[in-house]
Amino acid sequence: KQLIIINGPNLNLLGKREPEIYGSKTFEDFLKTLRSKFSGINIDYYQSNIEGELIDKLQEIGFSYDGIVLNAAAYTHTSVGIGDTVKAITTPVVEVHISNTFSREEFRHQSYISPHAKGVILGFGLLSYDLAVESLIL
Ligand code: DQA
Repeated sequence: KQLIIINGPNLNLLGKREPEIYGSKTFEDFLKTLRSKFSGINIDYYQSNIEGELIDKLQEIGFSYDGIVLNAAAYTHTSVGIGDTVKAITTPVVEVHISNTFSREEFRHQSYISPHAKGVILGFGLLSYDLAVESLIL
């Protein structure tokens, strides 16, 4: 199976960004552990702070990969464009968030991704990504 994790803006700062919310591990460290846990599966990784680059990547892999784990970060709450792309592609998308966005500010309760996602996993810290991978390989 061929999966990809796509992370949106500011997630390149994991480890040093608001560690009380997002934890103190870098994503690169986490990814090593995740890849060895799911060693039979190819897990690509892409991160961008730029909305159009996230759309380009989704379009590029969204008709051939077996699954996408997408944390669009702040664009989740603002991007009609990324929502439209998730709707347009055929590869199933699992939306993830590290934090429980519903226990936070009102503006984080809205998602343009959720209506088009296969499912949503949020609030379990980085474990949310493990659960998303699990759900895509069943
Ligand atoms: C986030 C939640 C978003 O509201 C926020 O803008 C992020 C990260 C999360 O993983 O908890 O950047 O997607």
